[in-house]
Amino acid sequence: MFVMQFCTGGDRNFGYLAADEGTNKALVIDPSFSPQTIVDFARENGYEIEYIFVTHDHYDHANGNAEIERLTGKHPLLYRSTDPTTGTQVVDGARFPLGGLEVEILHTPGHTEDSMCIVVADAVFTGDTLFVGKVGGTDLGAGARAEYVSLHEKLLVLPDTTRVFPGHDYGTAPQSTIGKERETNPFLLRPDIESFVDLKRNWAAYKKEHGIA
Ligand SMILES: [Fe+2]
Repeated sequence: MFVMQFCTGGDRNFGYLAADEGTNKALVIDPSFSPQTIVDFARENGYEIEYIFVTHDHYDHANGNAEIERLTGKHPLLYRSTDPTTGTQVVDGARFPLGGLEVEILHTPGHTEDSMCIVVADAVFTGDTLFVGKVGGTDLGAGARAEYVSLHEKLLVLPDTTRVFPGHDYGTAPQSTIGKERETNPFLLRPDIESFVDLKRNWAAYKKEHGIA
C-alpha cells in the first residue's frame, strides 16, 4: 500500500494519503491545515479519493474538513458519523472497501472520547492515541485509563510489522512500527495502568532525565 505523509502545519501535525496500488483508490486522513496540498497531490498522481477520515475532533486535525469537502465532494468521517456513500457508520470494527483493500476502524478513546485509529493493509494511522515514543495527552484519571486499554487492547494486538503513522511529528522519527513501539515506547513498557498513569504524572522529569525533547 502506498502512503504519503504530509507535514500539514499546526503543531507538527501530520496528514496522510494512503492508496491501494492496484486501483489507485485512496483515503485521506486528517487533512487539517493542508487540504489543497493533499488534493493536488492526489490529482497529480492519479489517486482517486474515496474517503476522508478524521482521527478526532480537535481543531488541529479537523480544521480542514469543510475545505476538503468543498474540493472533493467527499464528506469527512469522524467517529460515529455515517458515510453517505456506503451508508456505513464509523464505529469500532466498521469496515470500508478501498479497491482491493479494506479500511478498518478501531475506536481508541482516551485522548478524546471520539479518538479512532484507522487500519489499512499493513499500516495503522494512530492520530493522537500513539506517537513515536509517546502517547496522546489525557487527564490522569478516566482518560488515561481508557487510553491504556485502547493502546493495549486495540493497537498492541496488531502484528509487530504494522507500520505506525502518528498524528504529530513528536518523536525521533516520523513513523514507526507496532513492534518497535512495543519494545521502546516508555509508556507501552509500563506493566500496568498505575505505572502508566505514574509516567504521565512524572513525564516532564522523565524526559529531562532521559534527554527526550
Ligand atoms: Fe488532539
